[in-house]
Order: sequence, then C-alpha cells, then structure tokens
Amino acid sequence: MTPSTGLDKVKTAVFISGKGSNLKSLIKFAKLKKSPISIDLIISNNTKSKGLLIGRFFKIKTKIYNFGNQEITEKKILILLKNEKINLICLAGFMKILSKRFIKNFQGQILNIHPSLLPKFKGLNTHERVLKNEEKYSGCTVHYVNAKLDSGKIILQKKVKVKKKDTVDTLAKRILVEEHKLYPRAILKIFNL
Ligand code: GRF
Repeated sequence: MTPSTGLDKVKTAVFISGKGSNLKSLIKFAKLKKSPISIDLIISNNTKSKGLLIGRFFKIKTKIYNFGNQEITEKKILILLKNEKINLICLAGFMKILSKRFIKNFQGQILNIHPSLLPKFKGLNTHERVLKNEEKYSGCTVHYVNAKLDSGKIILQKKVKVKKKDTVDTLAKRILVEEHKLYPRAILKIFNL
C-alpha cells in the first residue's frame, strides 16, 4: 500500500470485540509522526467491549453493531466506511467472521492479528491447543484477510518460546506483549516503511 500524499495519513478503522489492548497500541502508534495511518473509526460487535472505552477516551468515533443479520449489518458498515473515507481495516480481537462479499469490497485492505504462528493453530482456543500439543514455540502473526479463516498472506510473525510452566494465561500474556509491537511493524512493512 502507499500512503496518499504528503501529510495525509491513510484513514483506518479498527474492528474489536473485547479488551482492545491491540487497539490501544495501534492508536498510540497512529499518533506517531512516522505512522502512515490514522485511526478514525472503531467498530465493535459487543456493547461490553472494553476497547470502546479506549476509543472514547481518545475521542475516536465508535460504532456498535450486533450482527443479528450479518448481511444487512455489513452493508451498513460498508456505507459507513465509505462515508468516513476509510481505506484500511485492522481486525484486532474481532470475533466475527466477515463475509466473502464484505472482504471483496476491501480486497487487500483488511489485516488481522492472530495469536499463533500461522498456518499452525488457526481459529479459536489457540494457546490451549499449543500447550496440549507440547509445542516448543508459539507466537503471533499479522496477515491479510481473505475469504478463508486465518489463511491470508502473512505479513509478519514473531516467535515466542513456550515455557514448561506456561498456562493459557501466562502464554497469552507473553504473546500479547509481542502482538502490540508486531501490528505496528506489520503496518510499516505494508507501506514499505
Ligand atoms: C489477541 O490475542 C488477538 O491476537 C486475538 O484476540 C486477542 C485480542 O486482544 N485475535 P485485545 O482485545 O487486542 O486485547
């Protein structure tokens, strides 16, 4: 991707469902001069998502959709994204699977972060499965989103060593620290920065 021109940053929407710690790290990154993106919109499918409070704290527009009817919801979101001139979508702990039609509308412009070394451990309960499998390493991946779950082109990965005493919580926490650094690095990379 290329930043538009001069001082303009690429308008970005972050989709969340939960805590929003990746959202927070993206907001902080976007405020830096070197960032090619600005965070202009936050979309959540969950009224209780703590990330919404982070968005409000930083005075970023937030919108909640319950995804009752996914097709109608996605149409509404696409209109909103167009009105807000959004050119990049970062999924950050977003627990809904976007439809093929939606993804087609933003081809090559949707990124996701996943807490495993993809293509290993796609989907949910990643850390649990990593521990059960007695993996030596886990980590996190930032990738483009395509129609297949957690299968789009990989942008960057960070390996994290699994410790003998790790629980789902300790491993998740250590990986999350790396996620917060990896997402901004992956964004710099796609803009060739
Ligand atoms: C992260 O581990 C992310 O990789 C996964 O869900 C978690 C979201 O955490 N998809 P947060 O909401 O960004 O704190």
